[in-house]
Formats: sequence, structure tokens, C-alpha cells
Amino acid sequence: MARLQLNQQKHFSVGPQLFGSFVEHMGTVVYTGIYEPDHPTATAAGFRDDVVQLVRKLGLKTVRYPGGNYTSSYHWEDTIGDKKQRPRRMNLAWQAVETNQFGLDEFFQWCQQVHVENPVLTVNLGTRGIDDALHELEYVNGALDTDWANLRRQNGHTEPYGVKYWCLGNELDGKWQVAKKTPEAYGKLANETAKAMKLMDLNIETILVGSSTPRLASYPSWDFKVLMAAYDNVDFIAMHDYVDRGQSEHMDQEDQASVDDLPTYLARSREFDKQIEEIETIADAVKALKHSSKTMKISFDEWNVHRRSLKAPQPWTEHNPVDWCYFNLADTLLFGSMALAILRHGDRVKLSCQALLVNTIPLILTDEGGAAWANPTYYVLQSLLQNLTDQTHVVESTLVDGDVYSTTRYQNVPVVDQVVVDTGSAYVIYAVNRGKTTQQLTVTLPRTIKSGQQQHLIGELDAQNTREHPDTLTLMPRDDFQCDPSSTTQTAMLNGYSWNVITYNYR
Ligand code: AHR
Repeated sequence: MARLQLNQQKHFSVGPQLFGSFVEHMGTVVYTGIYEPDHPTATAAGFRDDVVQLVRKLGLKTVRYPGGNYTSSYHWEDTIGDKKQRPRRMNLAWQAVETNQFGLDEFFQWCQQVHVENPVLTVNLGTRGIDDALHELEYVNGALDTDWANLRRQNGHTEPYGVKYWCLGNELDGKWQVAKKTPEAYGKLANETAKAMKLMDLNIETILVGSSTPRLASYPSWDFKVLMAAYDNVDFIAMHDYVDRGQSEHMDQEDQASVDDLPTYLARSREFDKQIEEIETIADAVKALKHSSKTMKISFDEWNVHRRSLKAPQPWTEHNPVDWCYFNLADTLLFGSMALAILRHGDRVKLSCQALLVNTIPLILTDEGGAAWANPTYYVLQSLLQNLTDQTHVVESTLVDGDVYSTTRYQNVPVVDQVVVDTGSAYVIYAVNRGKTTQQLTVTLPRTIKSGQQQHLIGELDAQNTREHPDTLTLMPRDDFQCDPSSTTQTAMLNGYSWNVITYNYR
């Protein structure tokens, strides 16, 4: 039993780029994931059309590319021009042979196919630096009669791509990274790179590498130091985090990993709320110290629940699988609460990328030469994206008298986790029931409504969508849903362990 009170005030606006995804040259994300020229559904360009259709239905508008760790030693210019001339290289981050048959221009062509409007690119600030980033920017966005822009034209792409968001490297605080840096060295390099890139293109926004995870000893002093070095020339600080059901609280002490009980696991999204609020605090302290009028935005450009691969690694092959996994209902509920933490903080988190789109801790799974199907997390993201337009606002909502629970790690966790948006024609309540039993949710709306509906994702906690049973966990209409158009008070039922989307149309 819980009561939800909506405030008339629209809180802040949120758009579709709040929930993007990520395509990295990692495992089978690209090769046999989105690109497979010999697949029965392959398009003339070699894209898997079964995956294209799934991505379109997802409603994705933002995709980050091409990494990730991959970018810290990659050469972007290996990936353009005549495919037969492109070099085969060692992908050091993921121990695979990179054929470069899918590169920058193919990525933009694929974005067009899947209706992604907002590509986010990462430059190599690991083994490379300012010059390389400038050449890539000129190739991608250059509009003048200059060398790299002309090479793009020569390759058949007359118009500049107009990419707005640029990540200044990736996870350069991590010991796993090729060319890890100190915060001082990275901060200086990122600042000068951003400054030079903005001299070339005034319309871009740059994203500074923040801590790879709050479970590193250098968190959050890394964020403070790099922001102090680069505040004036960057627009976003990046956040990354993945939650595994069995993990250590300190990344450098993996031997102390422990497995969460279910109530603790389902409350793990609280770490996202905490991490976002801590990064906001650090960024605002730097703003004050710098006497700046600019408020730093947050790009949560890698987040997800995490599971290990079901497929054995095949190092130094062209398709070395990495973290190819099914998510079950418990993972999906945590994923839903993580998404709600991001939505709740949509006043500062202006970009986020679930990682990754296909075949590595994915939304979509594929078999080489075979089927493509969706993990249940796909339906959570789809249900969020379908209500995020440039008209959408998060509405202030207060949960009164709701049940709470406590675990050793977390106290007073609301059983019902919720965020409400106003789309301009409807109030949409997103709610996770983290508990075993049905919850009755009584909502007081700011006005009467015309109609309503409820969809939910329910099932066994360990159920999964497999190639044999791809629709075990999907979003279904709740048949016994009722609403009363004459009243501002409505009641909805939330099954035990469920993801819910309750829509009250007022237009
Ligand atoms: O799972 C994706 C990888 O995780 C990215 O390459 C890296 O940035 C992160 O550590």
C-alpha cells in the first residue's frame, strides 16, 4: 500500500537523449551483432536487418561509438575509405582481430538506418592526442575546402555529419586502460584538446572522463582534479558504473567480493542516486572555486547491470565474445530502478548511454547467421523512450505512507520505486515493485483524466528471454486496470516484483 502525491509543478524537462545506448568494437557487438554481410537478413551495406528492426522499435535516438576501452589505442583513420585497403589491427582492449570493415562512415550510415539522430563519438586520448582528435573532428564535421573534410567527400560523404557530442577519451583513471593517466596529466590534455576542438567547431560539446566507478580508491578526487583542470572548456563530466550481483565494494580487492541477497541487490540503484549527487556536489564546488557561471552537465555514458559471459572467450579471433549474457527478471528490476535514478536526476544528467546495445551485457542478443531477440531490459528502455520527447517533463512526486525495508547495507528502502513524467498529454508513472507482494498505489493527480492504461513486466525472478523462448519477459497490458475519469484520485495495482508503466491521459 502506498499513496503517491503529484505536484502541479513541472520540475524539469527531459528528452530522448537521456536514454541512449553504446556500440563498441568489443566482443560481438559490431561484427555479427549489427554488421554481418553474410547474414540472411543483411542489407546491401552488410547491416543485420533483424537488428535494425529491433533498434527502430526500441526508439533509440542516441548512440555512443566506437568505445569504450577500444578507443584508447585505436586509429580512427584505419576505419575509412576503400574497405579492401583498410588495415587489420590488434584490438588491445578486447583481444580481438579488428578488420575495420565497419568504421566511422558505416556507423553514420547505420545510424540513419536505425533512426538514431544523435551519435556521440569518443576520441583517442590514450595513445594519441590533440592532433588526432582535430583530424577526426575535421573529417566528421568539416564544412570547408580542407584536407580531411575533402577526404570525407572523396569517400562519398558530401555533407558534414554535424556530430555534437565528443567524449575526450575513456576511463583513463583505470589500470586496465591502455595509456592510463594521472588526473593532472589527463586534465591538462583534455582541457587543451577540448579548447582546440572548439576552435575548429563552435557547435560541439565535450565530455570529460570522470571516475570509471565509485569503487576505485581515486573516486571522487579524480573528478575534482580533472574538473579543476578542464572546467572552462568542457560541458559534461562523464560517469560510469556497472552493478554485478557478486562484487567487491573496492575494485582493487576483487577477492573480497560477496553475493547480494535479493533485497540488497534490488536496492543497488541507490548507489546511482548517491554517485550522481556526489558528482553534482564536486562539480558545483569547482564551479564556485572558479567563479564560473556555467553549471556542469553529467553524461552517464556507461551504465548497466553486469553478468559474465555464457560464451567462452576466443582471444585474437575476429569475433571474440565478451559478456554475452541473458538478464533475468531480478536484473531487469534493478535495471529499471537504475534508469529511474537517472530520470530523477534529469535536471543534471542530460545524456546517458546504457552499455551495450548488442551481445555484451546487451539489450539485444544475436546468433551468428541466426536469430536476434531482446533481453527484458530492452522493454524497460523502450517504455521510457516512448514517452521522452522534447515536451516531456519530470513531475515532482511524493510517496506517502509507502512500505519500506532495510538490509545490512541499505536502510528504509521504499518498496515502490517511482518517477512520474508529464508528456504534455498524459501523466506517466514508472514504478518498480521491489517486494514480493502486490502493492496498491493510490495516486492523487493534479487534474481529472480522460482515459488510462497500465503495462507491466512480470514473471519468475530467474526467468529469461532465450532464443527458444524470446518473449518470456516482455511488457504486457494489465487487463484488470481501471481508472475513474471523473476523479483526481486513481488506484493501480503493482504485482510483486514488477516493472510498471501507468499512463493517465488528460488530453
Ligand atoms: O563494458 C564496456 C566497457 O566497460 C568499456 O569499454 C569501458 O569503458 C568499461 O570499462
